[in-house]
Amino acid sequence: MIRVLAILAAVSAAMAFAFYSGVFGSRAGKATPLHDFEAPFVFGRFQLPADNPLTQEAVELGRRLFYDPRLSGDNTVSCSTCHLQRLAFTDGKPTAVGVSGKPLAFNSMSLANLMWGPRRFFWNGRASTLEEQALVPIQHADEMAQDVDELVDELAGDETYRLLFDAAYGELSPTSIAAALATFERTLVSANSRYDQFLSGEVSLTEQEELGRKLFMAHPDTKASLRGANCIDCHSQFLTSGFKTRFDGFVNNGLDPEAELPAGLEEVTGEPEHRGLFKVPTLRNIALTAPYMHDGRFGTLEEVLDHYNEGIRVSSTLSPLILEASNLDAASDTAAEDRVSLNLTAEETAAVIAFLHTLTDMDFVTDERFSNPFPTE
Ligand code: HEC
Ligand code: HEC
Repeated sequence: MIRVLAILAAVSAAMAFAFYSGVFGSRAGKATPLHDFEAPFVFGRFQLPADNPLTQEAVELGRRLFYDPRLSGDNTVSCSTCHLQRLAFTDGKPTAVGVSGKPLAFNSMSLANLMWGPRRFFWNGRASTLEEQALVPIQHADEMAQDVDELVDELAGDETYRLLFDAAYGELSPTSIAAALATFERTLVSANSRYDQFLSGEVSLTEQEELGRKLFMAHPDTKASLRGANCIDCHSQFLTSGFKTRFDGFVNNGLDPEAELPAGLEEVTGEPEHRGLFKVPTLRNIALTAPYMHDGRFGTLEEVLDHYNEGIRVSSTLSPLILEASNLDAASDTAAEDRVSLNLTAEETAAVIAFLHTLTDMDFVTDERFSNPFPTE
């Protein structure tokens, strides 16, 4: 009996694979490639799944689905309930609230430049593709509480959707729903902040912003008299998001002491050294996405800077990049336990905050292409 079950499992796994790799077959091939998609050269290369190219039809469909409350069980919550464009696709709450009215465990995440940065999604990295991610909130009891098969039936009763799914994927299924949402999300590129304009030589930064930029980009080195705020060590350049390779984009940034460390990435990998590690989020549009951190514990950027400057909690998995970053000369006689502190001056932390404000991209939060396609009264 066990043997039979094992074979059945193998067969269904093989079928699932065939379904996925061949997926939408010839119909999807007829959709129109998105010719005008562009992203800055400095962001680097991006990869698309072979079976889900960027097409005009899929983007249009994905945008509609993203804003449609019919995606939830009681037709009240859409993706945009917790991912509002004007807040760079966050919701302004410490932790998100969905159909159940019960606050979730986590702070809503900004959806910008998702094709770059860590190749895993959610604060603890439990989804490895955007396609996989999309079906999670739909089915989650507290978020959208929707049965995906019922959703397929519901959408099939709407002629606009029938036509759109046919044009984009040649089928209406949970797989094509996820694929369309992922495609729309991939087009959410934020690349016209003042910092981007500075990089392309269009504007110059103020003296304070420039000091903040230099501090952001530098790891402190007291021997060389180089002062630094260390941010770039994790929030990597241009994108200000975590590194792509393996789990390098997941870090413990010292929010909690050992005894209170939440599982974080450990929940996904089972590795004790991953306890308390969370995804390094992008800092693009950070002035718009308060409250901050996976649990929304900080209400302002000032509180965030106070944390990095003097609130670091030491634990076994704390990033070594934070542990040894200090602007205080080793020769001075401060006690050792005080050393996990950046020791920036008030003027310097204010400068870093001023630099963070240059990452706000008003085009991104007002771009028609990313807005609600349904007429609103
Ligand atoms: C009830 C609020 C809520 C709804 C509805 C919701 N989300 Fe989210 N979203 C969140 C929260 C909270 C997180 C972080 C959750 C976590 O890490 O466990 C998140 C994370 C994400 C991420 C991961 C981003 C990253 O950088 O890792 C993506 C992508 C995303 N949501 C897309 C969607 C899509 C698509 C929908 C609609 C199908 C949706 N969300 C519906 C609250 C919501
Ligand atoms: C050792 C890596 C590391 C360094 C150095 C670092 N960060 Fe972070 N940062 C993270 C991680 C990881 C998170 C998410 C932590 C969490 O929520 O558990 C984060 C979160 C944040 C957030 C909240 C983002 C959001 O969407 O809620 C801000 C703001 C931030 N960092 C700014 C900075 C600034 C400014 C600096 C430099 C002073 C800095 N970080 C240095 C790893 C780092």
